[in-house]
Amino acid sequence: MNPELRALTRRYVRALQGFLSGRGEAALQEAYDLGREALARGLGVHDLAAIQHRALLTALLAVAPRQEGSRALRAAGKFFIEGMLPFEMSHRRSQEVNAALRDSEERYRNVVETARDVIFTLASDGKVTSLNPVFESMTGWSRADWIGKDFALLVDPDDRERAGELRRAAAGGRAPGVLEVGIRASSGATIPSEIVATVLVRDGRIAGVLGVARDITDRKLAAKALHHLNEGLEAEVKRIAHALHDEAGQLLASVHIGLVEIARDLPSHVARRLEDVRGLLDKIEEQLRHLSHELRPTILDDLGLRPALEFLADGVARRTGLQIVVDGSPGTRLSSTTETVLYRIVQEALTNVTRHAQATRVSIAIERRGRALRCTVRDDGLGFDVPAVLARRGARGLGLIGIQERLHGIGGKLTIVATPGGGTQLVMSVPMEADVADADSSRR
Ligand SMILES: Nc1ncnc2c1ncn2[C@@H]1O[C@H](COP(=O)(O)OP(=O)(O)O)[C@@H](O)[C@H]1O
Ligand SMILES: [Mg+2]
Repeated sequence: MNPELRALTRRYVRALQGFLSGRGEAALQEAYDLGREALARGLGVHDLAAIQHRALLTALLAVAPRQEGSRALRAAGKFFIEGMLPFEMSHRRSQEVNAALRDSEERYRNVVETARDVIFTLASDGKVTSLNPVFESMTGWSRADWIGKDFALLVDPDDRERAGELRRAAAGGRAPGVLEVGIRASSGATIPSEIVATVLVRDGRIAGVLGVARDITDRKLAAKALHHLNEGLEAEVKRIAHALHDEAGQLLASVHIGLVEIARDLPSHVARRLEDVRGLLDKIEEQLRHLSHELRPTILDDLGLRPALEFLADGVARRTGLQIVVDGSPGTRLSSTTETVLYRIVQEALTNVTRHAQATRVSIAIERRGRALRCTVRDDGLGFDVPAVLARRGARGLGLIGIQERLHGIGGKLTIVATPGGGTQLVMSVPMEADVADADSSRR
């Protein structure tokens, strides 16, 4: 018996003797306190039984007659039970905690089992340690086929490099962001998926990752549809631009010729007034040409984004008196879709500046940022309350929303920084990597 236990036993014996000699409630309280102390020191029921046994022996040796002995035994039993109370209470509490734990585990399991996204865990070596049932309906594989296998093998070979981020996170790196990868289905098809993952920590150590994979087939289809819509719209604009430029231009030219002929038969003072009309016609022709170029500048197809934006800025500046500068360039040709989308957006942004901003200066900047292209349009005008305007969605104007949708169509995004009175800045960001592939296929 260790010294601690021995000291406790001595106190217990004294208290029990006190109880047997009639100290009543005070001694019982002491039994309770001793029980609590024993519990706090990590002693078990077994230890307390041993202490009781020892104390009982000592107490019984001190009383001789049989009658006395049985009275002492009964009293000692009561004393013992009092000392056991703290153990009983702690046992009840741990039962309750266990039940609560079981409950929350069951809830968690329900969530995982019924989730519509695949929920999985990977060990530090990248091997799959768990998968929820939806994995089977989504991929056609059985879960048993993949538990213990390398997760990377589930990923489309083209995306394995990127998916390596999950393995690095599982092995102790930083948490990966959102990943878009193709998951191989048992049918041989690839399911476009978005994976969000967090690092699993057990006992202060990284023990793998927990990931949620969502099938984003529908989103991809919608983006593709949007893309087609964009292209359809572009074709329509091209048609209108040509009609303006060629057909209306031809008609104007015929009017010119007609006027010249009429002027020949008229007295010279009337003919001079016709000259003025011809001057106006020239202006209309010039405007029409400019408008058709802005609608669909051949310069965009021939020379690329930067020259086209300069041309656009020049026209707007001349019409409105705004001071507009264009800075930077993509450094390379982009796919024709991306170039057109960016051109259209800057065009809408400039229209907004002339309509709403009361600005004097505008700057347009194009820069490459790693694998993204950033295009910024900034004005020094009135600015506006962005959340309030965006919340009016659909209530007015399609401009900003149209911009957002067009950007989404090419995988880009829009950030608007504006404060009432502090000018407005539109920042568009477009991925270049996807764009190169796009450019390859659309320009072949
Ligand atoms: N550059 C800007 N300066 C100030 N206000 C702007 C600017 N751009 C947009 N806004 C505000 O945002 C609103 C929404 O713009 P938009 O979606 O293009 O629709 P619309 O131009 O048809 O009103 C505008 O009505 C205006 O209040
Ligand atoms: Mg607008």
